[in-house]
Amino acid sequence: MQHDTIAAMAKKIVVANWKMNPPSFREAKKLFEAEKKAAAALARRVTVVIAPPALYLRALASLVRGASTAFAAQNVHWESAGAFTGEMSCLQARDAKAAYALVGHAERRAAGETNDDARKKVAACLGAGLTPVLCIGEAARNAEGAHFDYVREQLRIGTADVPQGKVGKLIVAYEPVWAIGAAAAMKPRDMHEMAIFIRKVLAEAHGEGALSVTILYGGAVDSTNAAAMLEEGDVDGLLVGRASIEAERFRILLNAVAER
Ligand code: 13P
Repeated sequence: MQHDTIAAMAKKIVVANWKMNPPSFREAKKLFEAEKKAAAALARRVTVVIAPPALYLRALASLVRGASTAFAAQNVHWESAGAFTGEMSCLQARDAKAAYALVGHAERRAAGETNDDARKKVAACLGAGLTPVLCIGEAARNAEGAHFDYVREQLRIGTADVPQGKVGKLIVAYEPVWAIGAAAAMKPRDMHEMAIFIRKVLAEAHGEGALSVTILYGGAVDSTNAAAMLEEGDVDGLLVGRASIEAERFRILLNAVAER
């Protein structure tokens, strides 16, 4: 069987990045209860990971019985404890029931996070038993293909401290900055090209184990483009912003993913 066919059939992962939403815990709980229900109905076909604001993490996790949903921190610090005002360690995220952590999201990079920060966070996550979701993606494209150099650098530095043989534990989320919050997602054909590139760069640095790394696409994902991205984009899942903070929109999106 072709790799593409196997990838298309395997269980998909959908990460819901709520960002700084919703404004109250009461609304967060309501949104979560609805998303948990939608996820539970499709649990055999889709792994749903919710990345709520850190303040809501533990209380939302206490509402889960069984494995309908998993949780991600939206950010973590690389140090395990100490004088880092406003930060959260990987161990604290784990203790609050996160199993994943976003690292280097474009919105954090825009606020000053560097590739070196991402490198330390990826290693800290792996050391603490959290699955890092390393977010990469260029701000703009040009005809010369400079975005490939940009993404290579993000991958090389971001994974430089991944221990030998551990690269398969990483998730890479490709989110071109120009598609985040935009009206339309990237074309699946372009994602396919980028997925091949990501695997190649990681395999050069970490060996063949990197060829099976989990890759997500993010940027203006919704129910109208999700299935095509999963079928033609050579990705294992999706990282969703806006379409994850309205329960009904998210349910329809999950159904589109499960039916693809
Ligand atoms: P949108 O889905 O709102 O474009 O956001 C994408 C994103 O940044 C998810 O992390």
